[in-house]
Amino acid sequence: MSDELPGIPARALPISARAPGKCIVFGEHAVVHGAPELVFAIDLTTQVFVSAGEATRLNADSEAPRRNAYFRSTLDLAWSGKPPLEVRAISRIPKSAGLGSSAAFVAGLAAALSSASGGIDRPALAQRSFEIERGAQGVGSPGDTSTAVAGGFVAVNGGPGEPLWSVRSPDHRWEIRRVTDPGWVWVVAYTGIPRSTADAVRAVGARLAAPGGPELLEEFRRVAKDGIDAVGRGDRSTVAELLRRNQELLREVGVSHPRLEALIEAARPAAEGTKLTGAGAGGSVVALPMPGKETELVRRLARAGGLPFVVRPVPTGASLVET
Ligand code: MEV
Repeated sequence: MSDELPGIPARALPISARAPGKCIVFGEHAVVHGAPELVFAIDLTTQVFVSAGEATRLNADSEAPRRNAYFRSTLDLAWSGKPPLEVRAISRIPKSAGLGSSAAFVAGLAAALSSASGGIDRPALAQRSFEIERGAQGVGSPGDTSTAVAGGFVAVNGGPGEPLWSVRSPDHRWEIRRVTDPGWVWVVAYTGIPRSTADAVRAVGARLAAPGGPELLEEFRRVAKDGIDAVGRGDRSTVAELLRRNQELLREVGVSHPRLEALIEAARPAAEGTKLTGAGAGGSVVALPMPGKETELVRRLARAGGLPFVVRPVPTGASLVET
């Protein structure tokens, strides 16, 4: 296990914490079935402010513990039987866009509540955040939550990098490792179409269990493994080719969308490679810009109706904010 990343120290309420969103470069969906995945933390964050309250509320909504599955699951797993809380959350991550808004909320709030309960080390926070997200969604892998906890570039089930931790569910175990950031600029663009991660994950699960599914999963596995290795050695042209191949596979398992395909097409003259990122079926694309064409790429994606962001990987995962 890593001793690179410090844990979350104990503090008394009020506490503020923040965690980053994420961008999946390779391996979404297949990771749920044990294949490798490459993810990086982005410079868009969710910040939570937690203080003692009269009744538990989220952004002044006292129905949130009942209606918001992520809030309820975090309270159940990290604050069970404890006094009421006033929670405020402010996020710059678009919701249901494939950019990790729920993982950032869960990891940030779990960090704050764990801090108020005596502190927590990072491997335990990663396991807890995964269980919370899975409790809310019913399905999924720990890629998003581990990236929100670790920051930087993270490989799930692959790569030669330093092991950070492992995350377990009753039927899987995922190994989380550090990958060196090659220092590239990435562009993501949101289609404006929100989607349900759980529905997309279930549909892909059914496709991978149907005839031809195991062969598809094997190809997902190969692409992500080669992609992790190519990012590790800074080999842009191989990364670009594998982004395109990964998109073909995602299209084949049914999670692309005409709006995603329109953005991928619009990006082509200014991007070395582009694919959907996250659960798909709407959500966002990630593109590796041709060097010097970053602004042109942003313009093309906006003209095609996307909401583009230039994203930089950030090294910092979930952390307390000194108030
Ligand atoms: C969602 O951001 C990524 C998926 O692979 C689901 C998951 O890994 O939990 C689609």
